[in-house]
Amino acid sequence: MPRYHQLKEILRERIRSGEWKPGDLIPSERELSETYRISRMTARQAITDLVNEGVFYREQGRGTFVSRNKITQQLIKLTGFTEDISARGQHPSTQVLSAEMLPADEFTAERLRITPGELIFCLQRLRLADGEPLAIEFSHLSFKGCERLLQENLEQQSLYGVLESKFGLPLMEAEQELEAGLAGAEEAALLKIAPGASVLFTRRTTYTDRNQPIEYAKSVYCGAKYIFYTHLKREQLFSS
Ligand code: GLP
Repeated sequence: MPRYHQLKEILRERIRSGEWKPGDLIPSERELSETYRISRMTARQAITDLVNEGVFYREQGRGTFVSRNKITQQLIKLTGFTEDISARGQHPSTQVLSAEMLPADEFTAERLRITPGELIFCLQRLRLADGEPLAIEFSHLSFKGCERLLQENLEQQSLYGVLESKFGLPLMEAEQELEAGLAGAEEAALLKIAPGASVLFTRRTTYTDRNQPIEYAKSVYCGAKYIFYTHLKREQLFSS
């Protein structure tokens, strides 16, 4: 494991164990490099990574702090809910609201490139971090043998984990849309927020190898608890 990776794990553990709390100032690069006998470059790389993942935030001239209770979902790497929450040192959990095989409607069928009416696995989950509801996710999955998902305990396992390790389906890429909105009565009750509070709707199509869509998921995230992070690079228009 590269050293900066090891340091990232150590720093995450300090949050997980409760030693560092949201808003705490973390030691400087110099202090970390002395404590762990690593170069300042390595310490900087680990901190920068954790800032990009939303675990820490920097304040100009003041230092680096443990992020407040907002969850950052980075929009760079394809990660699932369990990974995002664990990366922050929080405990992810899931309540399955429904799991059944249903015929695909026209819109979903188009996303999954199948014929409308084909049976797909439909999963509705409430996703929580440290017991606090954060999102409702409605996943539609289509692949050969997807009905076997009915036998999986998806309260105890991550969907991405099951697809990759049990079904041998590598998740390669995804397209995602974000849209601001207001919580309806039912969503608000599940998310324990006021009806009409701000939410963020996301729609994600995830592809396995050979560019095959495997999941189309619609989610509702509590607007006040989420930050979506993306890193933008300017395209090099002219080459010298
Ligand atoms: C994200 C995506 C969903 C996906 C989920 C998988 O939240 N929006 O489309 O189903 O991650 O998460 P997990 O692997 O924790 O089940």
